[in-house]
Amino acid sequence: MGDLLKVAIPKGRIVKHIHRLFQEAGLPLPEELDDSRKFIIPAHEMGMEFIVAKPADVPTYVEYGVADIGIAGKDVLLEENRNVYELLDLGIARCRFSVIGLPDWKPVLNPRVASKFPNVASQYFREKGQQVEVIKLNGNVELAPLIGLADRIVDLVETGNTIRENGLVELEKITDITSRLIANRVSYRMKNDAVQRLCDRLQSAVTAAA
Ligand code: PRP
Ligand code: MG
Repeated sequence: MGDLLKVAIPKGRIVKHIHRLFQEAGLPLPEELDDSRKFIIPAHEMGMEFIVAKPADVPTYVEYGVADIGIAGKDVLLEENRNVYELLDLGIARCRFSVIGLPDWKPVLNPRVASKFPNVASQYFREKGQQVEVIKLNGNVELAPLIGLADRIVDLVETGNTIRENGLVELEKITDITSRLIANRVSYRMKNDAVQRLCDRLQSAVTAAA
């Protein structure tokens, strides 16, 4: 029991990608992970236990060691900046961070930038030497330029549908994003066999999918 690998899995639209990847790795996940309101899902036959987390909380659980490993988007890792090992690029949930605005956007002094990722947005503009005021929002960030809350936004673009449907354009790409396998630093050493085995199987599935 002590050697169960505790795995933090983000809930939401990424779950179907995770199911497919684990399936291809020969590790079919419990179906309860899909739609259950149960947040701890044992899979002792796999030597694992799954913790169903809000995506942004996965690195926190892993840093504190309540999960040995987890799956987190690079977006969340950049924003949360947690002390965890990044083991593997899973190549799923591929999207990008971009600066987005109205097509007739014009530079202004001290522009307001809205984002669900205030640290990422602040760091990007700081590195460019541009002074901006970052406004943290919790979702539907594309509204901000439309209703005059912000001049631009920093957000994820996957298909581009959301920005298109709201009449916005991508002004600058910040960086590409995929999901990563992350590990707690102590678990990585103490449960190295189990972590490495999982990592190797997922690596094969990632390579096969590429
Ligand atoms: C995400 C992201 C964009 C959209 C990008 O929002 O914040 O709005 O998806 O995907 P697309 O390019 O395929 O349209 P999400 O639906 O997760 O909701 P939220 O921003 O309100 O949290
Ligand atoms: Mg959104």
